[in-house]
Amino acid sequence: MSAPARVLELANASVLVFPDRVSACDAAAERVAHALRSAVATRGQAILGLATGSTPEPIYAHLVKLHREGTLSFANVATYNLDEYYPISPLDPNSYRSYMHRHLFGAVDLPANRAHVLDGTVPESAAAEHAAQYDRWIAADGGLDFQLLGLGRNGHIGFNEPTDLSAEAAMRLPTRLVDLHPTTRADAAKDFGGESRVIPRALTVGVAPILAARSILVVAFGPNKAESVAQSLRGPITAQVPGSLLQAAPGTVTWILDEAAAQAL
Ligand code: F6R
Repeated sequence: MSAPARVLELANASVLVFPDRVSACDAAAERVAHALRSAVATRGQAILGLATGSTPEPIYAHLVKLHREGTLSFANVATYNLDEYYPISPLDPNSYRSYMHRHLFGAVDLPANRAHVLDGTVPESAAAEHAAQYDRWIAADGGLDFQLLGLGRNGHIGFNEPTDLSAEAAMRLPTRLVDLHPTTRADAAKDFGGESRVIPRALTVGVAPILAARSILVVAFGPNKAESVAQSLRGPITAQVPGSLLQAAPGTVTWILDEAAAQAL
């Protein structure tokens, strides 16, 4: 397993800083694999919360490699993805359902009916009930054993964007339909062929079910993330920086960073 260049132990988090993204993603994938195997060994199944975006792509590639080598099975796994644009067809290449099919679901033995992604095709009048149902499904599966998170440049987790709510109120936010923050829309412009074409709303798993995961792994790379990483780990717990709410997570929280993302710590 790749070794971090340095380890910081903060209040409720272990921060592992790697010299480069390749070694960081290898270590992150090994942690996902370990969480999967130990949940299956102890409970008979693993319930994983998954993220999309550019950061986890090499992590999924590593998991697919382990599966092809015969050392990792998803047969007893259920996955719950963090978010999905709204509205969007699952067949749209920009949908997170299609991203997950390309990077993981289509290449491993995860049962198709255990791979959950919020549905960007539900009528708007049914979106709130669909989101509530998603939270009930996670609860009925016994809660998340493990949550993989990226971090937005503005500190978002999932698509829980910065808000004026109190930290306490933000920590109770359930899965729901949200407006994307201008920074998030700017960062998605490359995928949609321009900022004005980015779908401006999304369904996101709420802060409450994320914080309830028994174990959380946050992965962030590059100098663009340095400020939100530092505010999340060292700053006050505030809904203006949703990543800082992870300081209040009752489970174990691990951060995997490269040197560039760790530079403001
Ligand atoms: C994606 C998600 C987002 C991303 C974040 C970082 O499912 O929930 O919070 O993790 O926007 O995205 P990248 O990895 O593209 O920098």
